[in-house]
Amino acid sequence: MAVIEKLTSQEAIALENNYGAHNYHPLPVVLSRGEGVYMWDAEDKKYYDFLSAYSAVNQGHCHPKIVDAMVAQAKTLTLTSRAFYNDMLGKYEQFATSYFGFDKLLPMNTGAEAVETAIKICRKWAYEKKGIPEEKAQIAVCENNFHGRTTTIISFSNDEDARKNFGPYTPGFLKIPYDDTSALEKVLSENKNIAGFLVEPIQGEAGVYVPSEGYLTKAKALCEEYGVLFIADEIQTGIARTGKLLAVDHENVKPDMLILGKAISGGVYPVSAVLANNDIMEVIKPGQHGSTFGGNPVAAAVAMAALEVVDEELLAENAEKLGQLFRAELQKYIDQSTIVKLVRGKGLLNAIVINDTEDSSTAWDICMALKENGLLAKPTHGNIIRFAPPLVMTETQLLECVSIITTTLKAFEK
Ligand SMILES: Cc1ncc(COP(=O)(O)O)c(C=O)c1O
Repeated sequence: MAVIEKLTSQEAIALENNYGAHNYHPLPVVLSRGEGVYMWDAEDKKYYDFLSAYSAVNQGHCHPKIVDAMVAQAKTLTLTSRAFYNDMLGKYEQFATSYFGFDKLLPMNTGAEAVETAIKICRKWAYEKKGIPEEKAQIAVCENNFHGRTTTIISFSNDEDARKNFGPYTPGFLKIPYDDTSALEKVLSENKNIAGFLVEPIQGEAGVYVPSEGYLTKAKALCEEYGVLFIADEIQTGIARTGKLLAVDHENVKPDMLILGKAISGGVYPVSAVLANNDIMEVIKPGQHGSTFGGNPVAAAVAMAALEVVDEELLAENAEKLGQLFRAELQKYIDQSTIVKLVRGKGLLNAIVINDTEDSSTAWDICMALKENGLLAKPTHGNIIRFAPPLVMTETQLLECVSIITTTLKAFEK
């Protein structure tokens, strides 16, 4: 079989099942093309994308400006490693630090790598700047967090599937309830060895939990009071997804360390980054951290183009406007629904909670029916369905999607 032979959906699924590790449970749809807010399957059926690759494709599928930047750079120079300088990385670092308002950027590739990077910087800062005794630094994290899949990161997850039989776990993390500043104050006041507080401004994977207004402001103030780094994981919430460039911008909070991934490349290439000011970033010296691909010229070109698109196409403004409309329209439906309990979210990061038991298959069944009706979404944590379309969506398209969603839900009403 030639590698370029066109496969049917059935054949493609069989190949993944037979030759790939079963570490995901995908919806049975095989996608072969994408453009803007749409994707097409192997049989050329068209769908609205309501996941955006977990908020990586905020700028829409195959955005021409981003793809052109990638192709041009790929034809010029792809990888040098950091053994040498390249003529794109510095330009990108200057661009991105000014874009997000930090002194320095450390480039990596995936989200989990960037979280690991932030943890390492935080610990080193704790020993070298804060004066915490060696090996004693702790990082406060939140219950039901999702920060990635590495051994250290799953060590402080409380998702049993993510953790079980992957031990021994990395020590040095203290878990506190999310959206609870009293719990944060308690842990900070009782433990002088806390170096950082790692938090998602909205808990995406957990089911789009939006904390109460003022949570981030209060948490940042507490971190300042106790000399602890406030580390925002904006891998899912960042890059205009929630209606502002960053979700922390809703409360005008400036993190000490900002972690970005996913849509920093528009979903075109794996790009992630940690941003911080000099007093923090300077703890990292040559040989102490890195990645062969981190900061490669293609990543630099792609990320600059992807961030320019966010501004040029007013994606934050569009996400804010369409998000309001989406929640208002769904609320009208929910007011007379028995199958949906509520809709919540910010900008175009939203979720509905299905009125059924945690372990029921209703959310999955609804996603299967949505697929039949031409819209792709995925359940997260049991009976919650996340809705996160690309931010280049128009109002007309959004209303058509609302109609697909409500028509589909009607079939599940008891
Ligand atoms: C908040 C958050 N942090 C980290 C990650 C991990 O990113 P990656 O899958 O690129 O490693 C994700 C991925 O969903 C995420 O949502």
